[in-house]
Amino acid sequence: MPIDPRFLDDLNARCDIVDLVSRYVSLKKSGSNYFGLCPFHNEKTASFSVAPDKQIFHCFGCGAGGGPIRFVMKIEGLEFPDAVRYLAKQYGMEVPEDTADRGQRQRRERLLTLMKEAARWFYTQLHAPQGKPSLDYFRRRALSKRTMNNFGLGYAPDSFHALLDAMTAKGYTKDELFAAGLIARSQKGTYYDKFRNRVMFPIIDIRGDIIAFGGRVMDDSKPKYLNSPETTIFNKSRNLFAMNLAKKTKSDYFLLAEGYMDVIALHQAGFDSAVASLGTSLTEEQARLLSRYTKNVIICYDADNAGQKAAQRAIDILGRAGLSVRVLRIPGAKDPDEFIKANGAEAFRKLVERSENHIMYRLQNIQDQYDLTQDDQRVLFLKDAAKEVAALENAVEREVYTARAAKTAGVTPQAFALEVKNEMARRRRFEKKRYQREVRAAANAAQPKDRSLHYDNIRSARAEEGLLGLIFADASLIPRLRELISPAEFSSELLGKIYAKACALYDEGHPVSATSLEQELTAGEMDHLAMVLGKPVPNERREQAMQDYVNVIRASAMQEDENSLLRIAERKRKQSG
Ligand code: UTP
Ligand code: MN
Repeated sequence: MPIDPRFLDDLNARCDIVDLVSRYVSLKKSGSNYFGLCPFHNEKTASFSVAPDKQIFHCFGCGAGGGPIRFVMKIEGLEFPDAVRYLAKQYGMEVPEDTADRGQRQRRERLLTLMKEAARWFYTQLHAPQGKPSLDYFRRRALSKRTMNNFGLGYAPDSFHALLDAMTAKGYTKDELFAAGLIARSQKGTYYDKFRNRVMFPIIDIRGDIIAFGGRVMDDSKPKYLNSPETTIFNKSRNLFAMNLAKKTKSDYFLLAEGYMDVIALHQAGFDSAVASLGTSLTEEQARLLSRYTKNVIICYDADNAGQKAAQRAIDILGRAGLSVRVLRIPGAKDPDEFIKANGAEAFRKLVERSENHIMYRLQNIQDQYDLTQDDQRVLFLKDAAKEVAALENAVEREVYTARAAKTAGVTPQAFALEVKNEMARRRRFEKKRYQREVRAAANAAQPKDRSLHYDNIRSARAEEGLLGLIFADASLIPRLRELISPAEFSSELLGKIYAKACALYDEGHPVSATSLEQELTAGEMDHLAMVLGKPVPNERREQAMQDYVNVIRASAMQEDENSLLRIAERKRKQSG
């Protein structure tokens, strides 16, 4: 079911494409448009443009383009209806749902209520007499009553049906409990509680809805943590543990830890911007979620090898989301939780202050791999470290780290600088090759594969583009244009189709804009339209411009006819000759 176009009009009117895009891309104004680095492909020069008057974006590099909804679809990886809902929510609007959708939504709401009821029930169990061992467990882990309540911690008793019974008594069906991931099904087809004899950590999304649980054993048995399966309400790669609390922080950095207990201990110690990914390594979506709330992330993963490897990966992912990254080392403890328990909050604050930016962190890691008292190892260190320093964009930074790395390796800064220079030259050669490859790829991509995007008659198509530019800038020109030309007379199938749709929008009283068409055009067609609308439109004498364009279209159609007549005549002449 398509979404009511009237609603899309309202949504389009409400949102501001510059404001929207700015949340992901840093934009600079130039003339009436804004420019920045395209978020949809890797580039060094800004070929991504936003036109606030037309409410569209367009990238000259990769060809992506469209209105606000299309932007959300691409950047958040959402389907059309979800992108509409996402945008609507940000502007406090409610999407009118058709009946099928409403049914689905009601089911979702019901699952969320069930999760809340379950959390309440786990909480009650924690504080009931039979929950004593679990309460003792949390106390042993130095959690205060306040912290436990703040995180809604609970206990799932040692039973195969206690939760099942309690929730069915409240009117929930087995089907719903299963869909929420709270019960599992045996091979015989019987249902049983998934979480048994575990302390429970609710996972809450940024809206404050409980979407999943993590449950931990209280001894050494395996698995240590059991997490809710992915369900219609839980997507683990899109959420972060404690994001619902951390998003309210006043701190200008976020702490990214590995575990639930680390995050809880950090909050208890006053670090209210701590979050963790949910039992998996950090995803791009999680990094983007973070980048909506902060510019700085401090990674405080476990001190072991696995933790440090994961940190390297996280540095790259966070960097790609435009975040500035620091890494914190935890001396003498396994993780932040244990460190705080042993040394207190103040000591951890010092670690935060001393956390290294990721360059020093990487240099330190490289240094750890070599024995710098050996000449041959020192040479290897120099080469590796120079690679790292050469990758820095900023000359001052390069100088600072050149000095530091040289000192570490016991060589002169000049010797190290030479190594960096060589490495930079190598990188430039590599970059140049990559750039040439990208240009070739962009040129290929600009050649539309889709037949309907192909122009048979360039001269006519340019004039048709001009007409579309005019009527999208000023829809009141449509009645006049209609008297001059019909969509069927357009040489380009796509442009003709857009013209016809624009007329229909006008007749139905909708604004004539790219956004109004987002539901009807394919992604390729929308990219193309955004490109067309990105071209300058005459500000004055628009009626005259319209007439001129129509003349060009007519003239080139006649030329085409003449050409084909000539071709036919030529063929006949050859056949007879
Ligand atoms: P850790 O094994 O580092 O545990 O797992 P931890 O956070 O220090 O937990 P405590 O202190 O022993 O209680 C880090 C995170 O990895 C996920 C959990 O999200 C955990 O918090 N994990 C770990 C699982 O999902 N399943 C497991 O079996 C283990
Ligand atoms: Mn731990």
